[in-house]
Amino acid sequence: MTDISTTRQWTAIENLVPAIGEVTLRELFAADPERGRRMSVTAGDLHVDLSKHLVTDDVMTALTDLAHAAKLPAQRAAMFRGDRINTTEDRSVLHTALRLPAEAELVVDGRDVVADVHAVLTRMADFADCVRSGEWTGHTGARIDTVVNIGIGGSDLGPVMVDRALHHLQTAGITARYVSNVDPADLSTVLAEIDPATTLVVVASKTFTTQETMANAHAARRHFVETLGSEEAIASHFVAVSTATEKVADFGIAADNMFEFWDWVGGRYSVSSAIGLSVMITVGPPAFVELLEGFHTMDLHFATEAPEHNAPVLMALLGIWYTCFLGAQSKAVIPYAQGLLRFPAYLQQLTMESLGKSVRLDGSDVSYPTGEVYWGEPGTNGQHAFFQLLHQGTQLVPVDFIGVARPVADLPTADGGGSMHDMLVANLFAQSRVLAFGKTEDEVLAEGVDPAIAPHKVMPGNRPSTTILAPSLSPGVLGQLIALYEHVVFVQAAVLGINAFDQWGVELGKAQAGELLRALTAEKHPGDGFDSSTDSLVEIYREARGR
Ligand code: F6P
Repeated sequence: MTDISTTRQWTAIENLVPAIGEVTLRELFAADPERGRRMSVTAGDLHVDLSKHLVTDDVMTALTDLAHAAKLPAQRAAMFRGDRINTTEDRSVLHTALRLPAEAELVVDGRDVVADVHAVLTRMADFADCVRSGEWTGHTGARIDTVVNIGIGGSDLGPVMVDRALHHLQTAGITARYVSNVDPADLSTVLAEIDPATTLVVVASKTFTTQETMANAHAARRHFVETLGSEEAIASHFVAVSTATEKVADFGIAADNMFEFWDWVGGRYSVSSAIGLSVMITVGPPAFVELLEGFHTMDLHFATEAPEHNAPVLMALLGIWYTCFLGAQSKAVIPYAQGLLRFPAYLQQLTMESLGKSVRLDGSDVSYPTGEVYWGEPGTNGQHAFFQLLHQGTQLVPVDFIGVARPVADLPTADGGGSMHDMLVANLFAQSRVLAFGKTEDEVLAEGVDPAIAPHKVMPGNRPSTTILAPSLSPGVLGQLIALYEHVVFVQAAVLGINAFDQWGVELGKAQAGELLRALTAEKHPGDGFDSSTDSLVEIYREARGR
């Protein structure tokens, strides 16, 4: 395969780097009063403002040329069609099929996957309605008021993030708890706070072999059998979401209580599959369907819009610009919406598990950076924590700001000047302005600041950001936001020639954890066997545990 960094399109971008060092965002905005509107795109309900990026029109054109050099449209079509683009696992990548409307058809390997998807969605909705209405009861006949989702990685981060974002739509008096960590503190805390008689456990695991999830699920199972006094209680209190029918049956969950998805749904792309069951139970099937429609809206935008108006394509190319050409290593995502508290953590798995690769699809080493370190916290909290480094630090950290116009709830301010939500959004807009335009030494001195102190007060500016503004944090908007970033990941991988859908790096750690567990727990100290650091850590731990 072609190494993208050897193409003339890559070289053309490299040639534009020096000129960018010479211009400022102040100058670019001054030269083009329309820049703000001209460099914004609409994707579904999202207004995506890309004007505060360190780019000229030449750079944007060169970046879209690079996407063409990588045959992005053909690669995108291959994904939507169900080609086995996850070559190392020989799998299709079809999370987009999870949100196709029922009347659509997509035949892959002789099966209409849309029919399969909607059969499961119908079963999920029937089940969710039964639980919400109280028709489904626990072993003692009590109504369910708590759902505990046990899962990790994509089987946790998606549902927990959506649960927080759509909290205001939890209408049936049912709340969800999420247990992921194998640290027993996680499960113990939740078990101490729930009543098993009114709790439904969703064991969410694509493979149904993940160590953490299976340990938590078995421990929870024991707790339920002990407290409810019967093995039979499991049938009323445990359901599974998985691709592994036999393993679910071995655990003791009947086929009727299993909600299926398929190997063509990657874990970190699975929140729009049955992995979203806990969310569907708490917010109800119509809101979940609205979420899926939001995903589909963004899928269509990504599939059909020209690159110049295509939000995920443009955001992905800007990511490549900063990492491969300007040396950025991380990306901050700052939602100015408390409901999106867990969105940065969700994006960490989506982006970093997907793009953390050092070889191309053909196995050859990459000669350019892949992916960014994603991180973030909601604003305004972040402003009082890490924003200092964004404003005056030495690193280039592009920021994605996310805001909503209409809040879930609002409160008046003490002085009557607008509302607390107005304050929140004013802060968002202020931060992107200050990052972009800074404050010059002259401006600082004009305020009468002591010249000796002035350098400390200069704000360099020229720090790039995207602002995504949505009308509200509705399920549809949330679906669009998630799909937006899914496709950003796809485009970056497609251009850089890497596989965004495997995660072999995680596997080695899993295997070694098994060996180490044996070393920690074996009756007899196994002695040396690993390396001098690990061997002594094992010894110290065994001593502390009296082994
Ligand atoms: O961390 C690796 C990983 O395989 C993720 O990709 C996945 O989301 C997670 O583990 C959980 O896997 P499963 O759903 O099979 O339990």
